[in-house]
Amino acid sequence: MLLPLGGHLKFFSLLAVSISIVFTLPLHAQPAPEKKIWDGVFTSNQALRGKSAFEGSCARCHNVALVGSERGPAIKGPAFLSHWDKGNLSDLFIKIRDTMPEGGPGTVSDELKIDILSYILQQNGLPSGSEELKVNLSSLEDIRIAKKGIWDGVFTIAQAGRGKDALLQEQRPSASMKSTIGSRSSLGLVYIIGHCDIAAAPGGFEIPTFWNSTAS
Ligand code: HEC
Repeated sequence: MLLPLGGHLKFFSLLAVSISIVFTLPLHAQPAPEKKIWDGVFTSNQALRGKSAFEGSCARCHNVALVGSERGPAIKGPAFLSHWDKGNLSDLFIKIRDTMPEGGPGTVSDELKIDILSYILQQNGLPSGSEELKVNLSSLEDIRIAKKGIWDGVFTIAQAGRGKDALLQEQRPSASMKSTIGSRSSLGLVYIIGHCDIAAAPGGFEIPTFWNSTAS
């Protein structure tokens, strides 16, 4: 790479910072169960059925946009997902089956509730797939609720290419490396991760720019 000496130093200290960031991410030592919520565990038709059931039975407390109201919390977004993180879909289904709608859990059938759960997943940005989610606790138990890890195809090749450009244009001194990573773009980081072969798994998912604020 034809960089001036300072550029090389900067590149390697960026690399070191990035590697330490990557290795402080929690790595799960145990073999993961078969599926995750990212694997397309419901169909888009099912989520569509769930939408109308949700609007009829849940929206008055959780809001049609799932953002919550004075009668019930948001069931969309990072705070909601983190309540269930590291659990499995059966935990979340049982919560809905046994306690929701609040005050009358028996008023909605389990079949409709599984459709509603699909809709909630879809509204939380999870992809649909070719098989419907079923009212079957043991198969729901096998679907892990987990945030994406670095191994899960969290950037695209195009994004890594833009990262390379951003990184090579970076002119700031390395003393401000931490704030550089925090305030500049996440693209350089994406490029570095890709080139460390740590996550040599570009996927269809781009690391969102709001990760910038969490990288500092
Ligand atoms: C009468 C108001 C009301 C209705 C209707 C209602 N909920 Fe709730 N819901 C709540 C309240 C209050 C909570 C928080 C207390 C709790 O967790 O039990 C809650 C909590 C939840 C949670 C857990 C949220 C979290 O952060 O973990 C889920 C999931 C949920 N509701 C889903 C549903 C679904 C699905 C329906 C429709 C079948 C529904 N709710 C209908 C009031 C309601």
